[in-house]
Amino acid sequence: MSLESVAGKLTYFHEQLHLLHWTTTSYAEHQALGGLYDYVHDFKDGVIEKLMGYMGKRPKAPKMEPLSDTASASIVVSELMSFASSLKSFAESNGFHDIANLADALSGEAAKTKYLLTLS
Ligand SMILES: [Fe+2]
Repeated sequence: MSLESVAGKLTYFHEQLHLLHWTTTSYAEHQALGGLYDYVHDFKDGVIEKLMGYMGKRPKAPKMEPLSDTASASIVVSELMSFASSLKSFAESNGFHDIANLADALSGEAAKTKYLLTLS
């Protein structure tokens, strides 16, 4: 994992969740996804700036996977939970303790959203 790959993944998740928030026809799903994309947006800025401090470098332009019109909200949220686990492992193996804690919080926020998506 690199500064650019973390930035690229979080940018992708933010934009994909925002697109799902706009395209859903369920009000409950619209609200649940709106809360998560707001969270990911703030999370991205905070985590990247902390990683810049830990790693002593600035990110190059990140590569972002393409957005999808046919993505499933619950699958994207599950992928975000997997990313949070990978981020935690990366942080722990490098001694970036605060990032590991933030990755746990991201996992929890995604888990809460998985529950909220069952209400739609
Ligand atoms: Fe909105």
